[in-house]
Amino acid sequence: MTGAVALAPAAIRGSTQILGVIGDPIAHSASPAIHNAALAHLGLDYVYVPYHVKPAGVSSLGPAIRSLGIRGLNVTVPHKTGVMAIVDDLSEAARQIGAVNTIIHQDGHLTGDNTDAYGIAASLREDGGLSHLPSHVVLLGAGGAARAVLHAVLQDEGVEHVTVQNRTMDRATALAQELGQGRATACALGDTTSIEQAGLLINCSSVGLAPEVDVSPVGDGAGLHQDMVVVDIVYKPLRTRLLQQAEAVGARTVDGLGMLVHQAARAFELWTGQRAPVDIMRQALLASVY
Ligand code: ATR
Repeated sequence: MTGAVALAPAAIRGSTQILGVIGDPIAHSASPAIHNAALAHLGLDYVYVPYHVKPAGVSSLGPAIRSLGIRGLNVTVPHKTGVMAIVDDLSEAARQIGAVNTIIHQDGHLTGDNTDAYGIAASLREDGGLSHLPSHVVLLGAGGAARAVLHAVLQDEGVEHVTVQNRTMDRATALAQELGQGRATACALGDTTSIEQAGLLINCSSVGLAPEVDVSPVGDGAGLHQDMVVVDIVYKPLRTRLLQQAEAVGARTVDGLGMLVHQAARAFELWTGQRAPVDIMRQALLASVY
């Protein structure tokens, strides 16, 4: 492809349907760039806009979406759990994860879905080359992102055991018990024994996120080995300290762009019914973030 990716729809008409993203803050969001590029590429009569919604505004969102005829919304920090109360039903993934990142509006009916789990699964498959996951997985972090990733990983029945490592042990224990299906346990962040045994390690903590780019969630990288895939869902910077450590021992690495692009692609498909142009979305993300 030559030239820049178009970041806005060609025209907004009387017939144009509205998509958007809510969050607080929202100005940093890459989602408008990703989705508008995809809409423009396919020539679809939609526009995707950012909405800065404060926590106090969440309770009145349902009537607003219906009366304004908004077709769909993405939901980001800090509203992913708050919007669960304003939708009419939840997808199985959203219910189990306990968070909504996508609202689909159909004739007054609001469905809350969670495409983050789809996003990591698609990235592991397409970016990591993992059609089946290894039997032993280490997951770093126990926040909202970790919940979606643990849910996704456990969908693969070949995964026998997930070790959840977190700075705050109580959160790791709670996550492993709540979502672990008897296949997850908790341990301290950086535990080398579980890393040595793992075929897949996924960082879901925010350690390594800019501007703290010199730190790794696994310290000096002890336990990392060449027979594993290492994924970092932090996407700024793209080559985090953790991924550099993994590369140095010969492990395969996957950066955080894929999860972000694939969760967006899934939401796009739920709203528009069209196959998402994933490569265009990836280019738009790269152009808007780096
Ligand atoms: P998100 O929804 O993006 O997952 P979050 O719920 O705030 O965000 O979770 C952030 C994760 O990064 C948590 O697992 C957090 O560890 P704690 O549960 O101990 O807070 C982890 N994290 C953030 N800063 C960290 C740091 N400096 N060292 C280790 N872990 C850190």
